[in-house]
Amino acid sequence: MKIAVPKERRPHERRVAVSPETVKKLKALGFDVVVETGAGEAAAMPDRLFAEAGATIAPDAASAYADADIVFKIQRPLRAGEGDLDEMSLIKRGAYLIASLSPYQDMEGVAAYASAGINAMAMELMPRISRAQSMDILSSQNNLAGYKAVIEAADHYNRAMPMMMTSAGTVAPAKVMVFGAGVSGLQAIATAKRLGAIVSATDVRPATKEQVESLGGKFLMVEDEESKAAETAAGYAKEMSDAYKAKQAKLIADTIAKQDIAITTALIPGRPAPKLIDEAMVQSMKPGSVIYDLAAETGGNCTLTVPGEVVVRHDVTIIGHFNVPSRVPVDASNLFAKNLLNFVSPHVKDGVLSFTWDDETVAGILLTRDGQIVHPQFSGQGA
Ligand code: NAI
Repeated sequence: MKIAVPKERRPHERRVAVSPETVKKLKALGFDVVVETGAGEAAAMPDRLFAEAGATIAPDAASAYADADIVFKIQRPLRAGEGDLDEMSLIKRGAYLIASLSPYQDMEGVAAYASAGINAMAMELMPRISRAQSMDILSSQNNLAGYKAVIEAADHYNRAMPMMMTSAGTVAPAKVMVFGAGVSGLQAIATAKRLGAIVSATDVRPATKEQVESLGGKFLMVEDEESKAAETAAGYAKEMSDAYKAKQAKLIADTIAKQDIAITTALIPGRPAPKLIDEAMVQSMKPGSVIYDLAAETGGNCTLTVPGEVVVRHDVTIIGHFNVPSRVPVDASNLFAKNLLNFVSPHVKDGVLSFTWDDETVAGILLTRDGQIVHPQFSGQGA
């Protein structure tokens, strides 16, 4: 079977869906791997490394996609009118498309996969079960995003992060507050601690308290009857009531004025990001403070975030970069590639991929099959 790995064409994307290491392993499983020329260029993986690992280098997208049984991608393929190339039209009927497909943001795409007869699998829907941890792209990518957010925020901060006692005087340590202590938030806490900052964090899931404290962070949250049930069975946060939001806003308002850097990571799957920092809170921060909004893509946790931009409002730098994992393209590609390999491997026998459809990891991410939308969260909408 042929696996195609096209070059990513969406804006702000520097990652690639295989690495030389996973190419070798996919070859050992019996696949032919075809990588489009230049696909790994922005991730320090030139064609030569893929060729040495056993991949065939295709000179263009059409020949990479041609007759592929499986397409490995980072982001969803371009459709007609979305860019210079209609990648969807190059995928053959019956092929598996395995990538981050943003189905909540792109229902039209889900319908298009069904009508094109593509078996589309959205890796970000991977169930949070222990067996699937090594297949979880949200974990692998958000972990790097949390790290990068702190590094970039530190760069914009224009002061030192750790306490420094010098003969000319003492530099105070930076105070960093992390909003949302999931995968990216916990990595942000760990990174900020390593840089010498004084770190605090907040979340709505009480389970995060112990995790924050084990990393040396101070935990702050509004604990009430509602927060006891804030975590869904899948491990994600629920949208909170207006009454809870008001209590939380007071806690944040009381704390944020004393912070130098806020890293915001709060997300609710399939919903706009909760607004946690409003204009008055930004105004209360010291000049030169920094907010790094990792939720920018789903609207932002700060009301002043401009998605995709770095802006200064009330003397506070607010960073809303898109696709932060792609800003660490080498490690992000390596880990994403491993997630894809770990997902398909159990379903391969003698070079043939044959899914067990009722396997939780398969059923959990399969959007479309044989021309139908089959995922329970999306069927009945669109196709
Ligand atoms: P996420 O990216 O959906 O959200 C980030 C964080 O924001 C979460 O901790 C969430 O509780 C928090 N949040 C949401 N609304 C908030 C609000 N209004 N105020 C403050 N914080 C708010 O979550 P992520 O990082 O994907 O992690 C969710 C859970 O899944 C975690 O418990 C994590 O440990 C678990 N997990 C399990 C895996 C597995 O078993 N395979 C793999 C990865 C994560």
